[in-house]
Amino acid sequence: MSTNSSGPLKVAVTGAAGQIGYSLLFRIASGAIAGDRPVELRLLEIEPALKALEGVVMELDDCAFPNLAGIEIGSDPEKIFDGANLALLVGARPRGPGMERGDLLSANGAIFTAQGQALNKVAADDVRIGVTGNPANTNALIAASNAPDIPKERFSALTRLDHNRAISQLAAKTGAKVTDIKKMTIWGNHSATQYPDIFHAEIAGRNAAEVVGDQAWIADTFIPTVAKRGAAIIDARGASSAASAASATCDAARDWLNGTPEGDWVSMAVVSDGSYGVQEGLVSSFPVTTRDGNWEIVQGLEIDEFSRGKIDASVAELADEKNAVTELGLI
Ligand code: NAD
Ligand code: LMR
Repeated sequence: MSTNSSGPLKVAVTGAAGQIGYSLLFRIASGAIAGDRPVELRLLEIEPALKALEGVVMELDDCAFPNLAGIEIGSDPEKIFDGANLALLVGARPRGPGMERGDLLSANGAIFTAQGQALNKVAADDVRIGVTGNPANTNALIAASNAPDIPKERFSALTRLDHNRAISQLAAKTGAKVTDIKKMTIWGNHSATQYPDIFHAEIAGRNAAEVVGDQAWIADTFIPTVAKRGAAIIDARGASSAASAASATCDAARDWLNGTPEGDWVSMAVVSDGSYGVQEGLVSSFPVTTRDGNWEIVQGLEIDEFSRGKIDASVAELADEKNAVTELGLI
């Protein structure tokens, strides 16, 4: 699949009247995912939010986006996901101050069982599903488990925001341009246990960890700053990240459908095939390359003891989340 095919790309977005939706819809409509290919937006909300969503649709209309081919809104996932080529599952309750993502498991898990089942019934044969709503990795696992006819490889959870945060922090530290930084990797869960890894990253072709030359900064500043950025934004804004999450959601979908550039990779949370010792079946973040709508985990990276411990800790958290949603009967 790529965005070059003919006809509009049907993009379903859940939680469309929420904070992220308010940024995301305008980016999608102006071509951030599909470029010049027309897009049709199919927007899902819960009943009480449909009036607010109607207002957002008025604003979308008022932008007169040249490539916005149509908009449908509603609260029935089977209607809204009908024929969707791309489904961006954003709608879920965000965490507030003091909450950890694990607190959201039961609150949000049920949403993803119903949406997985609906996608299974009515989405297009080539559908790709990106999960932004938290806890994103485990929500993707729940949706995939409830969509037995859709290949598991079509589900991915968003760690692109963490990837972008890591690039930005590294650029600020080294004075490099963000465009000079390649091969950044986020491993594991989109949570505070995630492992942003610069040991394989490059800055203008040089190993990033060597350019930084300061292991203490990597361990004590860089990793926690990236991993806890979501909480820092909640503390500062009183609400979770929205515009940056929308931007990362677009980046991830665009690269998934159109491919990663030669000589670089991106971070996506995808179903593990056991690569790098990550328990098979967990939705965990890896370095991946993409082509024609398919992804491949980058193989052969050397993992030292420091990185091993960090990856294992985040994967253990994912295994715990999987056990919790199994006990809740969600998968
Ligand atoms: P928000 O509360 O502003 O919006 C969520 C919207 O989802 C609401 O409008 C709500 O009515 C809707 N919704 C709830 N249940 C629904 C359902 N069953 N079907 C359709 N819509 C439904 O929240 P937000 O700030 O837009 O964040 C959305 C999610 O994204 C949260 O879970 C948040 O934690 C997560 N998030 C993830 C990342 C990431 O990097 N993965 C980054 C930021 C936020
Ligand atoms: C983020 O990383 O900004 C989001 O996942 C919101 C959160 O709860 O941290």
